[in-house]
Amino acid sequence: MITPITGFSKLKKEEKIDWLLKTYLQDSENSKKILKQYWNEDDAVQQLHEEFTENTLSNFYLPFGIAPNFLINGKLMAIPMTTEESSVIAAASKAAKFWQTRGGFKVEVLNTTKNGQVHFVFNGDKDKLKNFFNASKESLIDSVSSITKNMRKRGGGVLDIELLDKTKLLEGYYQLHCTFETKDSMGANFINSCLEKFADTLKEEAVSFQGFNTEEKHLEVIMSILSNYVPECLVRVEVSCPVSELYDDNPITNEVFAEKFLTAIKIAEVEPYRAVTHNKGIMNGIDAVVLATGNDFRAVEAGIHAYACKDGSYTSLTHASVENGEFKFWMEIPLALGTVGGLTNLHPLVKVALEILQKPSARELMEIVAVAGLAQNFAAVKSLVTNGIQQGHMKMHLMNILNSQKATPTEKQELIQYFTKHTVTHSTVAEQLERIRN
Ligand code: MEV
Repeated sequence: MITPITGFSKLKKEEKIDWLLKTYLQDSENSKKILKQYWNEDDAVQQLHEEFTENTLSNFYLPFGIAPNFLINGKLMAIPMTTEESSVIAAASKAAKFWQTRGGFKVEVLNTTKNGQVHFVFNGDKDKLKNFFNASKESLIDSVSSITKNMRKRGGGVLDIELLDKTKLLEGYYQLHCTFETKDSMGANFINSCLEKFADTLKEEAVSFQGFNTEEKHLEVIMSILSNYVPECLVRVEVSCPVSELYDDNPITNEVFAEKFLTAIKIAEVEPYRAVTHNKGIMNGIDAVVLATGNDFRAVEAGIHAYACKDGSYTSLTHASVENGEFKFWMEIPLALGTVGGLTNLHPLVKVALEILQKPSARELMEIVAVAGLAQNFAAVKSLVTNGIQQGHMKMHLMNILNSQKATPTEKQELIQYFTKHTVTHSTVAEQLERIRN
């Protein structure tokens, strides 16, 4: 029987591994070997990775690849992508090449405002609360001046604080809705520090506010936290070309392709079952760049999916039109990203990724990430409405299956050739391997 362990976090890494082996891995020497195999040979690099989080035992590799030929606002860029999914980087590269000869990606940051809330409960007089807020607003902003000092020097800081009455949703519920400009940092720590200070100041000011009775003086702060929903931190990306230039290797005519493409987008606009997968494909591109550049992909995912249902039902993030023979394809998404602070200054590969991108500002990174998302969606929908995705996917998947079956280079070569004319499935690959091995 397994008993709970106390003081686990205090154990040394080797002791944690030994406990794990004894408790869950039947003392498997092989598991230990694998855990150690992924340690970096440079102790300093290993320690750096271990300190990103807690109870680290090893490192978990993901491929770090590159999609070249992205023409973005007239500048040719290669985009680093971190993903385990086959075909994603190939699809991005293909879409980049396609649009590179058709004017490239036009992208624009629309705004960069981030936000957070102090959520609190107040059961007193609403008007008195409004008066109190108006009287205290300046003190609230002043109270964070030491936190915002450096950010203000960089042109950022607190933009505004509003008192929002949410009592129609929940009895006694109000919030301070606070907006921020965080320049090149994602700003999570900055925003949360400001919010926690606002909360303290709010409580202190309430106690000394003459207009409140004793109960009102004790308004109750529930929590203070940034929001990952950033609908005022938006970027818009677009590609366009004459329908007559849409052709490359389509098995159908340009006109039929454009029409099918538009219908596919419309389906994703009206049908949430499709929209979720459609947007997942967009996130294949977005997450890969967000991860490679050391940003928080969970925050980005949460914010983008919330934006996809801002009008009441979940819908496509991309849209397309054909007007006067011109095909247009675009997307507008919220993105809170940073190119300074956090992992961006720490992870050696993230530093390389940012160098590949010519050390972008956060605004530029928003543009690049949005481009990767639109490119990925273009490639996916293009495949879906023409050859289907399995043909391309299975080619890449074949390599994964061959590797998992420990195929030798000669076996790989023979089977790659064989599967140009046959359907790849786990069992067909296994069968063919057995055939050539016998
Ligand atoms: C697979 O990871 C992504 C796709 O399913 C996206 C889509 O269906 O649009 C191919």
